[in-house]
Amino acid sequence: MRSTVTLHVVSSLDGFIARKDNSVSWMDSSDVYERGVTDDGAEVGAEVIGSIDCYVLGSRTYEHALQLGWPYGDTPTVVITNRELPSTRESVEFYSGDLKRLVSEILAPRYGNIWLVGGAILGQSFLRLGLVDEIRLMIAPVILGDGLPLFGDSGAEQKWHLKNVVAYKNGFVELSYSRQPTKSISTNDSAI
Ligand SMILES: NC(=O)c1ccc[n+]([C@@H]2O[C@H](COP(=O)([O-])OP(=O)(O)OC[C@H]3O[C@@H](n4cnc5c(N)ncnc54)[C@H](OP(=O)(O)O)[C@@H]3O)[C@@H](O)[C@H]2O)c1
Repeated sequence: MRSTVTLHVVSSLDGFIARKDNSVSWMDSSDVYERGVTDDGAEVGAEVIGSIDCYVLGSRTYEHALQLGWPYGDTPTVVITNRELPSTRESVEFYSGDLKRLVSEILAPRYGNIWLVGGAILGQSFLRLGLVDEIRLMIAPVILGDGLPLFGDSGAEQKWHLKNVVAYKNGFVELSYSRQPTKSISTNDSAI
């Protein structure tokens, strides 16, 4: 099975995924996510959620999700931590250690559509290690001014290919990117 790791997060216009106090209420929209500004007929929310085989999250996101209300249903969920955390749900397992091994030996053989849903620390680790195949970035129409930066320590420059844009009437915009294939160097390429 060919597996894909998708980094999915909601960011403010100025690139934060949580306020300094960890709150994420700025992500809530009183309006529904109604398409309208652009609509290219791509999959809609329920189809996307139903296609996810596994969630991966950092321990801080896990603890916050337990407080706010578990959003991952019964879908298998792997929480990355160095601590002994209490197991709260049958669908949750914990992992500590090498993230490349996590993806290649534990996740890829079992799951096709793997969603890495944060937080910033874990997302940046995956990006630095080149473990992210796709990015789905939902931009909220708000400037927070300060907070937890999404891309603070993501490693070397990486080019991404824009696959899709969906703009919702509530002002949110979802950008979907895939990793740009590495350019093969032709023998005809002249040195500059
Ligand atoms: N806007 C959004 O879409 C969005 C999405 C997700 C989260 N959030 C918010 O972001 C905040 C949490 O993000 P965060 O960046 O602070 O933390 P995080 O990435 O959720 O979790 C970081 C923790 O994950 C564990 N970890 C990371 N890499 C590891 C590795 N290689 N091996 C073992 N453990 C590893 C460590 O846990 P231990 O300390 O337990 O060892 C580390 O402290 C919360 O406020 C959450 O609500 C927002």
